[in-house]
Amino acid sequence: MLNKKMAQALNEQINKEMYSAYLYMSMSACSNKMGLKGFANWFMVQYHEEMFHAMKLFEYVQRQGEDIKLEAIKAPPKEFASQLDMFTQTLAHEQFITKSINDLMELAMEKKDHATQIFLEWYITEQVEEEENDNDIIAQLKLIGDNPHALLMLDRELAARMTTIPTDFSKGVEAAAKGA
Ligand code: FEO
Repeated sequence: MLNKKMAQALNEQINKEMYSAYLYMSMSACSNKMGLKGFANWFMVQYHEEMFHAMKLFEYVQRQGEDIKLEAIKAPPKEFASQLDMFTQTLAHEQFITKSINDLMELAMEKKDHATQIFLEWYITEQVEEEENDNDIIAQLKLIGDNPHALLMLDRELAARMTTIPTDFSKGVEAAAKGA
């Protein structure tokens, strides 16, 4: 059982994770248009990660017997100036998500909701990794500057990123994660 305020906040987090997926889908499309298929791949893998984050919340709220309330997902930006611009925006967005997860944890602590605290721990660890990945790529992009050859080398490296989380949720997220 969830406190009503907690259930509402978790539902809002589903929307934030879906927006994240949408944002990275848009960055993937923009990278593809720029001829950078490795970056396009990296952002599509990130899209899958975000869908997994959203679906984990979707399943948790239902398992706790609460209603799912889906809201409109706002449109992401369509144009980005450069790969550095994309990753700078990605990091800023992830910092916003980290704050949102921290706020959820504080609410769960305030409500003495132990199950939700344990559930959210996964997201807290995940956010450290997400911000670290973005910082690493931003550092590389700053070194690259406007050297197209070096940018293409990084593009080739990012082409190797593979999806490691479940993408089929027809039997539920927990079941899919066990089978992954
Ligand atoms: Fe779901 Fe990228 O945070």
